[in-house]
Amino acid sequence: MLASALAAFAHHLAAFAIAAALVVELVSLRGELTVASARRLLNADRIYGIAAVAIILIGVARVVWFEKSPGYYLHSVPFIAKMVLFAAIGLLSIRPTLTFLSWRSALADNRIPTFDTAAQNKLRSIVHLELALLAVLILCAALMAKGVGFLGA
Ligand code: HEM
Repeated sequence: MLASALAAFAHHLAAFAIAAALVVELVSLRGELTVASARRLLNADRIYGIAAVAIILIGVARVVWFEKSPGYYLHSVPFIAKMVLFAAIGLLSIRPTLTFLSWRSALADNRIPTFDTAAQNKLRSIVHLELALLAVLILCAALMAKGVGFLGA
């Protein structure tokens, strides 16, 4: 019982960290880029990456050991939709991550990285889309947890 509750807690903590990191990215991508906002973006993206790995590991543990059984989730339409959405968000996050990582040498010299308006608008629309898909993912999580969309073993 306690292990299951702690796994649920850790899962929610990771889910909140992902949502928070994306909101920090969206806000920090507004306006002119500074050394401080570029560093904030790099750190938020690092937290996003760590939380994403954590949520997969904890999620698998919940599927296998702590919740309804693997058989249930593999026959749950919202669970499968949740995994597809999670993969889509992960793929969308590649371009922002590569952009932020390319700034490390400029930031090491305390210089503002080169970042034109077109690239900035592109990243903002990607992060917007990630957040929209995350909202749909959380809906799928609630449906899955309450047994909606279960196709029966
Ligand atoms: C961004 C990624 C994710 C978010 C935001 C997220 C969010 C959530 C939320 C909010 C719940 C609670 C649902 C409720 O009780 O109403 C939940 C439950 C759960 N999640 Fe995730 N999750 C994510 C990724 C994953 C992954 C990758 C897996 C599996 C590999 C997973 C497996 C589970 C399981 C097994 C439960 C318990 C469902 C139940 O009570 O039967 N989640 N998730």
